[in-house]
Amino acid sequence: MKLAVFASGNGSNFQAIAEAVAVGTINAELTLLFCDRKDAYVVQRARSMSIPVVSFSPKDFESKALYEGEILHLLEEEQIDLVVLAGYMRIIGPTLLEEFSNRIINIHPSLLPDFPGLHGIRDAFYGNVRETGVTIHYVDNGIDTGPIIAQEKVTIDATDTLVSLEEKIHKVEHKLFPAVLAELIKTQQGERI
Ligand code: GRF
Repeated sequence: MKLAVFASGNGSNFQAIAEAVAVGTINAELTLLFCDRKDAYVVQRARSMSIPVVSFSPKDFESKALYEGEILHLLEEEQIDLVVLAGYMRIIGPTLLEEFSNRIINIHPSLLPDFPGLHGIRDAFYGNVRETGVTIHYVDNGIDTGPIIAQEKVTIDATDTLVSLEEKIHKVEHKLFPAVLAELIKTQQGERI
């Protein structure tokens, strides 16, 4: 089982996944990190863990289809089984979705279907709700709308600030995402036997 992680920024979830692979909790090979921003911190994290990095930007291409076509070529060349989006800040288009349907997984920092989009934590914090959370889901052609695999709740306390809520959410993400991937991969490997 070969994984590719896509990320655009800090990469704390990438690191949590890479560590779970390194200790064998996730029974797979983390074949590569794909990053659409060469200067993102996640690139340094991958290099320091000796995980191959491929990085190019949609700006280098005439269209999104050509950009995704290049990614698809890479995934096929490396025989990637599963794509994991860990803070990849782009919408997956039809070029990738058609070839990898049901094989792209995303993490979102809210209890979907509540608070989809770019600012899930902030929107929940200002959204007058007492709980939010983390969702792991398959990617479809909507924004954070695909079938849900797992969710974990996080309470918003009266004393929470946006920063403390972000910390609580990330802490849950770093446990939940590797655990869900480990389970999913185990199940898929069982089905193959
Ligand atoms: C996470 O909150 C994730 O849920 C969202 O983007 C953020 C990425 O954080 N999709 P990091 O780059 O993994 O630190």
